[in-house]
Amino acid sequence: MTTPTSSFVPGDEGAALLSGKVAIVSGGGSQIDEGIGNGKATAILLAREGARVLVVDRRLAAAEATVAAITADGGEAVAHEADVTDEAACEAMVQVALDRWGGVSVLVNNVGIGSSGTVVDETVDQWDRVMAVNVRSMMLTSKFSIPAIAAAEGPDDRGGAIVNISSVSTLRPRGLTAYSTSKGAVIALTKAMAVDHAAQGIRVNCVAPGPIYTPMVYKGGMSDAARAQRANASLLQIEGSPWDVGNAVVFLASHRARYLTGQTLVVDGGVTLRGPSRDPGNEGQ
Ligand SMILES: NC(=O)c1ccc[n+]([C@@H]2O[C@H](COP(=O)([O-])OP(=O)(O)OC[C@H]3O[C@@H](n4cnc5c(N)ncnc54)[C@H](O)[C@@H]3O)[C@@H](O)[C@H]2O)c1
Repeated sequence: MTTPTSSFVPGDEGAALLSGKVAIVSGGGSQIDEGIGNGKATAILLAREGARVLVVDRRLAAAEATVAAITADGGEAVAHEADVTDEAACEAMVQVALDRWGGVSVLVNNVGIGSSGTVVDETVDQWDRVMAVNVRSMMLTSKFSIPAIAAAEGPDDRGGAIVNISSVSTLRPRGLTAYSTSKGAVIALTKAMAVDHAAQGIRVNCVAPGPIYTPMVYKGGMSDAARAQRANASLLQIEGSPWDVGNAVVFLASHRARYLTGQTLVVDGGVTLRGPSRDPGNEGQ
């Protein structure tokens, strides 16, 4: 039997996974500067794999806290303040990366805000805000990043990657209707962009996290009992961490995922597989 050569995983000969790449991470800060959100963990892990990272957040202090962590780690990153629901801000954001590093290879669309309620008690303004932050932002950042990624990577290299953050709440909705709807749109957007931009060598994938312990969920306070309940909701009996999300994003952004596009990677410890306990008396049903 012949041993696979280095072309088994092309370009993966022991170097950092994203060496030489430039990545943009939206919502790369955290709601609490000393906390770790999904975007912050992702930015730190991308930098550990050799990427230079533009950390974009509507709060500059939040982006700067992430950059400080990356710099302390020996990585390279720049903080950039932008509201990614704004078209001009998204165009300027990409230009900052181009001016600084001359290209862009990876875009992580991480920004998202929560919501609660049904269509009956949701206001139109709240609904529109969730759609703007969770969906329109991804359209806008992609609109301006895709030409830059195509120019940097070229169709033959297939080194360009976009990773969008959805949520398991779209797979098992409960009481967060606007949020769940927006996160379903993220999966559809992922598939559509995967089809539209494959010929430019850009892979587009999605991560759907389960309950992850980030400032978004613990900012208002969370008891140990509530955390235990979140852990119990998963098959693995553990609560997700932002590093779990970041590791999945790094994989999808890297050439190790070169044969994946248009996919949704569910990172939830099996939460979405968990159903009611089986009644031993009804094994056959
Ligand atoms: N935490 C979870 O349990 C969980 C589960 C599933 C999906 N997600 C998704 O993960 C992503 C990140 O969530 P998180 O929990 O790390 O949140 P977080 O609130 O800790 O971090 C989000 C960051 O995005 C920034 N941001 C918000 N709106 C912005 C805008 N318009 N422009 C630029 N920056 C903006 C915030 O300032 C913040 O720093 C979201 O898309 C969220 O829906 C989270």
